[in-house]
Amino acid sequence: MSRVEKYNPLKSSALSRKKGELKEERKGRAEIQEITYESVKEDAVRFGLATDVLYQMNAGKEASIFLAHWKGHPIVLKAYRMWLSSHRISKKKGFHVPASSKKTYCVLDMMESFAVVEFDLLEKCFHAGVPVPTPIGRVGNYLTMRFIGDEVEPAPQLKDVHLVNPEVVLNQILDDYLIMYRDVHYIHGDLSRYNILWWQDRGWFIDVPQAYEVGPWCDMNKAERMLLRDIRNVLSYFESYDIHRDPKHILEVFLSEYIPSNKKHYRELAQDNVELL
Ligand SMILES: Nc1ncnc2c1ncn2[C@@H]1O[C@H](COP(=O)(O)OP(=O)(O)O)[C@@H](O)[C@H]1O
Ligand SMILES: [Mg+2]
Repeated sequence: MSRVEKYNPLKSSALSRKKGELKEERKGRAEIQEITYESVKEDAVRFGLATDVLYQMNAGKEASIFLAHWKGHPIVLKAYRMWLSSHRISKKKGFHVPASSKKTYCVLDMMESFAVVEFDLLEKCFHAGVPVPTPIGRVGNYLTMRFIGDEVEPAPQLKDVHLVNPEVVLNQILDDYLIMYRDVHYIHGDLSRYNILWWQDRGWFIDVPQAYEVGPWCDMNKAERMLLRDIRNVLSYFESYDIHRDPKHILEVFLSEYIPSNKKHYRELAQDNVELL
């Protein structure tokens, strides 16, 4: 594509052309568009996210992870699956996305929103000093980020390493999570030995699309439950090193550092069954 064509505002972007093609191809059918290595590579290069895609590292429920290159440097490409169906199917899976009409294009946009959430939160965490892979770019349902690892292999998940100083590592992970909660105002929502990578003597938080924002409009009871679950998951890994801490105490430390000002009395009101607005 020539430069002039690329920057001509009247020309549709590679992404909107792709969406148009998808709509035409699948009109009236409700299905998930399977992610193939070939289609991801073609899209990533066409969208300018990577110069090459090497191989698929992992396939989760909602997204697949690929090792890609940007001019020879390893990066991670995360591809959220496109749901080509009415939004009802996706809601059944427990996705929290604003209700939309049943039109296909809304569902395409909805999967895009997972990539948006992940990209934005990685960026906020990165700026706050939380160890996360630095986000690089996002187009549609794709995002790229720093590859945690070296030229030889990716960083292992916490579950696969044997720590020499587990007590120090636990404190570091809790400190980092406190920064995310207190300064970025987010709960990870799936923090565990699987979503913490071990690299250069510290834990790196990954996989954040289900994170919950703790702000004036949040449900503080839900936030508390999610936070406690994350803390318990992290602590359960460290029990294998015979380290035992009280998750409720850690929860209180977190809450003492930050609660949105209009939610300060959420516990008293919850006892009286009063809904906070
Ligand atoms: N930035 C990254 N650097 C290195 N490895 C990664 C990175 N992001 C993900 N991975 C690897 O891919 C796996 C799956 O990624 P994750 O974001 O947890 O997606 P999901 O659990 O939804 O499949 C991780 O457990 C990790 O091994
Ligand atoms: Mg994961």
